[in-house]
Amino acid sequence: MTQAAGRFITFEGVEGAGKSSNLGWAAELLRAEGIEVTITREPGGTPLAEALRDLLLAPHEEPVAPDTELLLIFAARAQHLQQVIRPALAAGKWVLCDRFTDATYAYQGGGRGLPVDHIAALETLVQGDLRPDATFLFDIDVLTGLSRAGKRGKLDRFEQEERAFFERIRESYMRRAADDPTRFRLIDAGAPLDEVRMQVQALIAEQVSARG
Ligand SMILES: Nc1ncnc2c1ncn2[C@@H]1O[C@H](COP(=O)(O)OP(=O)(O)OP(=O)(O)O)[C@@H](O)[C@H]1O
Ligand SMILES: [Mg+2]
Repeated sequence: MTQAAGRFITFEGVEGAGKSSNLGWAAELLRAEGIEVTITREPGGTPLAEALRDLLLAPHEEPVAPDTELLLIFAARAQHLQQVIRPALAAGKWVLCDRFTDATYAYQGGGRGLPVDHIAALETLVQGDLRPDATFLFDIDVLTGLSRAGKRGKLDRFEQEERAFFERIRESYMRRAADDPTRFRLIDAGAPLDEVRMQVQALIAEQVSARG
């Protein structure tokens, strides 16, 4: 549980899993219940954090040190929390966020191999004890996800990684979900979009009834 009045729900999963496609749908369902919703994403969510996102996603001539990547992500997160997430939750809004710190554990931890305790230290530094109330994990076969994402056009710095990188990310997500079954909800994201939407709808209904 967050300490705030609203509810914080994060959408996670590898490239092309369907996070962005389903976020708007989830927001519509909540608004139909009379709930005020803020939609946002990471890295990003504020002008400064979006500028950091651009730096993170753009391919660079020089190799990007994994620690640089990690610190830029948490710098963007600190800004996003202060400007958007905490104020929205304090105002009683529900925040739907496209990726959050589980992605950092999966990509920078699982994918890049950075020590989990470094990520955990930054998580505590930047977030205090704020954690998502619920996390919807869109699980999909890595190649299916990449092929969906590839159809959108030019590949970003992450999408240019090899398959093994994304397999580690998927495993890392699944391990975190298994370790925290109270917070995580698994979605079979390989299904056709209308079926995925039905799964999301059921999970949103569960969140609405859990609001108490
Ligand atoms: N269930 C589905 N079946 C087929 N295609 C889908 C499905 N869900 C989404 N798509 C399509 O796959 C592409 C990727 O979906 P989307 O952008 O929602 O993924 P994402 O998880 O947000 O990816 P990323 O991590 O790269 O932002 C989009 O073109 C979308 O229309
Ligand atoms: Mg997306």
